[in-house]
Amino acid sequence: MATTAALVRVRKLIKPCENDIDRSARTLADAFKGDIFTKNLLGGSTDEALAFHLQRCQIAAAVVGGEVYVAEIPSGIQLAGDGGPETENRIVGAALWFPPGREMLDSNEQLQAGPADFLALLEPSLLDWWKAVFLPGFSTLADKAYGKGGKLNSWHLLQIGVHPMYQRRGIASHLIEVVKKKALSSNSIITLEAETELNVRLSREWLCLYRLSSTSG
Ligand SMILES: CC(C)(COP(=O)(O)OP(=O)(O)OC[C@H]1O[C@@H](n2cnc3c(N)ncnc32)[C@H](O)[C@@H]1OP(=O)(O)O)[C@@H](O)C(=O)NCCC(=O)NCCS
Repeated sequence: MATTAALVRVRKLIKPCENDIDRSARTLADAFKGDIFTKNLLGGSTDEALAFHLQRCQIAAAVVGGEVYVAEIPSGIQLAGDGGPETENRIVGAALWFPPGREMLDSNEQLQAGPADFLALLEPSLLDWWKAVFLPGFSTLADKAYGKGGKLNSWHLLQIGVHPMYQRRGIASHLIEVVKKKALSSNSIITLEAETELNVRLSREWLCLYRLSSTSG
């Protein structure tokens, strides 16, 4: 049986079908299960359908305004410890990026691609919190961490996750390589926000970040 890193293929989602977006969102939702920051974004809820919609809307927006890469295991392949082989390729990880000059929710097209539907699912008080506290506060935090406009001028990693069943097999490292190379070749920095000490450490290892912020969620 071959090692995972050698078998995983990284694919950019370009005009993805609904099935690809759904499967990527399911993988991210599974990766972020129990994540405290995600729970806070959902107003303390652990509702799995809402968590799925959150991931889905971010993927849909990033497809429009940024770049989305998925790590997949081709159909017919079995890896140590999984239930495969399956008849469909398995999306086991996803990374959502915004290139320099673009950011999450910077256009109505992005909003309409998914986030508007997600926001419509939130309780009014949670929606108010998103609009009045979270979105402006997160933007202020980014300015503080990277300097004004620093995040916008970077390759920003909005989200990365690998399905728990496939973690510690080098998939995330593999997944970030494409954009890491692009950023290095254009002298751009990479930014991301991480809320746990482990993720801050991982980010440093993977990306050799210049600056990053740590939030408590
Ligand atoms: C963080 C995450 C994306 C890492 O994915 P992954 O495919 O397991 O990462 P990799 O296998 O490429 O790990 C590369 C290295 O990072 C370190 N690392 C990764 N996960 C680790 C863990 N849980 N504990 C300690 N070190 C870890 C190791 O040094 C690892 O190399 P090694 O396995 O040879 O020792 C995955 O754990 C995940 O989806 N977590 C939940 C979502 C999340 O927190 N996303 C990140 C937001 S910033």
